[in-house]
Amino acid sequence: MPFSWAPMWHFNRPRGFKASNLLRGIAVWLTLSLTPLSGAEPPTDLSDSVVRGKRLYEQSCLLCHGKTGQGDGPDAFYLGAYSAPRPRDFTEAEFKFRSTPSGQLPTDADLFETITRGIPGYMPSFRGLPETARWDIVVYVKSFSSLYQEAESPPIVLPPGPLPATGESVNRGRKLYDMLDCAKCHGPQSMQPGGLYDQGELRDRRGLPLLPPDFSHPSSFKNGHRPQDIAQSILTGLDGTPMASFEEALSPHPEDIWHLVNYLLSLSRSP
Ligand code: HEC
Ligand code: HEC
Repeated sequence: MPFSWAPMWHFNRPRGFKASNLLRGIAVWLTLSLTPLSGAEPPTDLSDSVVRGKRLYEQSCLLCHGKTGQGDGPDAFYLGAYSAPRPRDFTEAEFKFRSTPSGQLPTDADLFETITRGIPGYMPSFRGLPETARWDIVVYVKSFSSLYQEAESPPIVLPPGPLPATGESVNRGRKLYDMLDCAKCHGPQSMQPGGLYDQGELRDRRGLPLLPPDFSHPSSFKNGHRPQDIAQSILTGLDGTPMASFEEALSPHPEDIWHLVNYLLSLSRSP
């Protein structure tokens, strides 16, 4: 079952102190501090998965990702022949949305999560397919690249958090945003003049122009907008795009990731 963030949001809201909120916050903190990023578990019996996965892939994915998985399905051209993102080429096995460090393969659970959630604006959610069907598709998608025969790399572990979005935390996040030069690409605030976006210089690995996210609308984030999703995007980076991993830059004070997340989320609450 997906983990619900509703109680945490409740906790994050700056209202009067409540002991029950504090306890709930500590419980979530303890759970998260020991939990690797990816949660979903594949079923143990995956026999015949490739056969079933192929049939499902041809029904649901082929139009965009192509028969041979190279991102060249009949509809791919209309999605953006001359701009990014193009449907992913599965033979390259390079992925943006991973719980694993930059340059590593995604875990099975990461692929499952992408298929389940979809990619706002670009790819539908397949939550409507039974879970077993989505796992079958994961197995088939992996069959496009021999790289998956290597052992799966372990997900990164997030520092304890998220931390409450106090004014102090948001201010620290704003400072980090400046110090780490996020504005170079994202603008002083989301998509405001000044970022590389305005100069048309943000491009993916194929040289196709790429839009940065609009921080004032977290629901449009491709990699999810729960605090731990945003933390994952920043720490692991989105491979194949200019959005690099900031894990090393944040390593002196790992808890800073939550201040950055609180700052980004505050942008959608500003008047
Ligand atoms: C309407 C077209 C469309 C359909 C249908 C579609 N996709 Fe995608 N998919 C895309 C696009 C476009 C991207 C690239 C988005 C980006 O890079 O921001 C993508 C990216 C992906 C990624 C890569 C995510 C990452 O981490 O980089 C995976 C995995 C994926 N799709 C799996 C699937 C599977 C499996 C199906 C079928 C169940 C499917 N897609 C159906 C358009 C589609
Ligand atoms: C060199 C340019 C560059 C820098 C510097 C940069 N980003 Fe990004 N960032 C991008 C691009 C481009 C994307 C969109 C990638 C895509 O959609 O494929 C992105 C995506 C993201 C996302 C993912 C949103 C989603 O759709 O899920 C977050 C969060 C983010 N950036 C935060 C940051 C923060 C915080 C910093 C500073 C610590 C930062 N970025 C620095 C270029 C940059």
